Amino acid sequence: MYAAGGLAGIPAAGAVGTVPAASAVAQAAHAWTPPSGSDFHLAGRRGGKKVVIVGAGPAGLTSAYELQKAGYDVTVLEARHRPGGRTLTIRGGDSETDLDGVTQTARFGDGIYLNAGAGRIAQWMTTMDYIRELGVPYEVFTNANADAYLYNERTGSTPGNPTRYRTAKADVFGYTSELLNYATDQGALDARLTADDKANLKTFLRSWGSLDTSGAYTGGSNRGYASYPTAWEEHGTPLPGPDSLSAVLASRFGNYFPFETNWEQAMLMFQPKGGMDTTWQYMVKAIGKQRVEFNAPVTGVQNTPKGVTVTYEQKGRTKQVEADFAIVAAPAQLMRGWATNWGGAIDTALADFAIGSAAGKIGLEYQSRWWEDDHRIFGGITETDLDLAHIWYPSYGYGERTGLVVGYYNTGASARTYAALSPKDREARAVEQGVKIHGERYRSELRSSFSISWDKVPYIQGAWAYPRTGTANFALLQQGVGNTFFAGDWMSELSAWQHGAIWSARYAVQALHAKAAAL
Ligand code: FAD
Ligand code: ALA
Repeated sequence: MYAAGGLAGIPAAGAVGTVPAASAVAQAAHAWTPPSGSDFHLAGRRGGKKVVIVGAGPAGLTSAYELQKAGYDVTVLEARHRPGGRTLTIRGGDSETDLDGVTQTARFGDGIYLNAGAGRIAQWMTTMDYIRELGVPYEVFTNANADAYLYNERTGSTPGNPTRYRTAKADVFGYTSELLNYATDQGALDARLTADDKANLKTFLRSWGSLDTSGAYTGGSNRGYASYPTAWEEHGTPLPGPDSLSAVLASRFGNYFPFETNWEQAMLMFQPKGGMDTTWQYMVKAIGKQRVEFNAPVTGVQNTPKGVTVTYEQKGRTKQVEADFAIVAAPAQLMRGWATNWGGAIDTALADFAIGSAAGKIGLEYQSRWWEDDHRIFGGITETDLDLAHIWYPSYGYGERTGLVVGYYNTGASARTYAALSPKDREARAVEQGVKIHGERYRSELRSSFSISWDKVPYIQGAWAYPRTGTANFALLQQGVGNTFFAGDWMSELSAWQHGAIWSARYAVQALHAKAAAL
């Protein structure tokens, strides 16, 4: 699918002959030929050309890394003071000033961090390949936890009474199974099912829904216990319930379950140890720190007869750098204000990639790990219909005394509601709601917080763009313009994922290399 609308002369993913023998699945995920320095030697040259890369997010850094490995002379210009773009990790001492001029400095203790942007990586994602290639330590990120909670205030959850995932699942699966079993017995599915199908379906439903011998769902141990079994005839105390079929349907808890089978989100997920931007710090090191300039916002990219001229600001001075090629890996909507000579069609195409979603997060640092002590929740996510949306428990720091909970991770209108508040008010609003689910320790154990509104982060100004794959504008931008190419998750099939940013970089690099090798 990455080859859709592919560039002339660029081999389609999966069509490259040099891919080592592996399973079909692995080939589909990893088929890509990096540019090779030997292509230049074959052409009688000693090395690649000079390339300026705009943006030290995942797309820009991957571009620089792959080009540099092939012998290109790369310079990365990054507007902000640190690499990683939206993979921002906030640690103790980190300061961020938003577009309103509000500065927050994180007071987190040692080892505590907030992944303010990217937080999880699926096993199949190419992000994992770079983590492993660079030797970044990584660990499991718990994306689904049967002991985390569901809390839908609009459909009946009350303060102090969240529902465990496992309980909600048992009830939703149980009643759905009961209904399907009943419909099967009544002959309602006879047009679709053979006698064998019916028998097999009923066997499955009995197990999936914990049905009794009469085919009814009456609850059971899968719902969890008020107190768990121990020894010596202490069988535990089952949770009271289940509620009626109508009440379970009305709770709408079932709507949360497809998340776990979503191809992007399905367990296992992973995270770099110590924070998501660790990968990109490692990559800066691999590229060479001297090749990545920070606090260097680009204000213009011009194609010239010889290549490109890139204009940027640094320490109050306007500077220019000449290069053979440029890869522009900044958010598309920010290029509108730059001095370029790309032409009207490119400008129009770029305007099509306006940021589509707002997102915000707050990290709540606690002086104890009460979620583990009191609730026996060791990682995972609580889902709510409150405007805080998701609460993430940390998948790191087990056994430590303190820890950090993501007190809200919301998008759209909810994110904008929190964005309009001061950091202190965001904290107060998040805590007020979190207390309903977790009790007073959610407030009393709080030590510090740090919140982010992606709309207000300088040089990012939004969470992610909605993909435009299959459009004429997308196809046009894939061609690049002159010796300038575009990269970024917005230029991929998977916006809002590092995987998309990385693949967009790979394709930009491949296109650039094809052009350079032909010179
Ligand atoms: P960015 O990361 O945005 O990097 C662009 C860079 O360009 C920035 O460093 C910016 O400062 C720089 N720049 C901008 N203007 C200029 C200029 N004028 N001159 C020089 N430099 C400039 N991904 C995952 O894989 N897993 C997740 O769980 C996940 N969750 C996310 C949650 C949130 C809340 C957000 C916001 C993102 C999440 N993502 C996730 C997406 C991931 O962070 C992005 O896909 C990835 O960072 C995109 O990389 P990029 O290089 O295209 O863009
Ligand atoms: N990819 C982003 C996430 O998983 C949106 O949260």
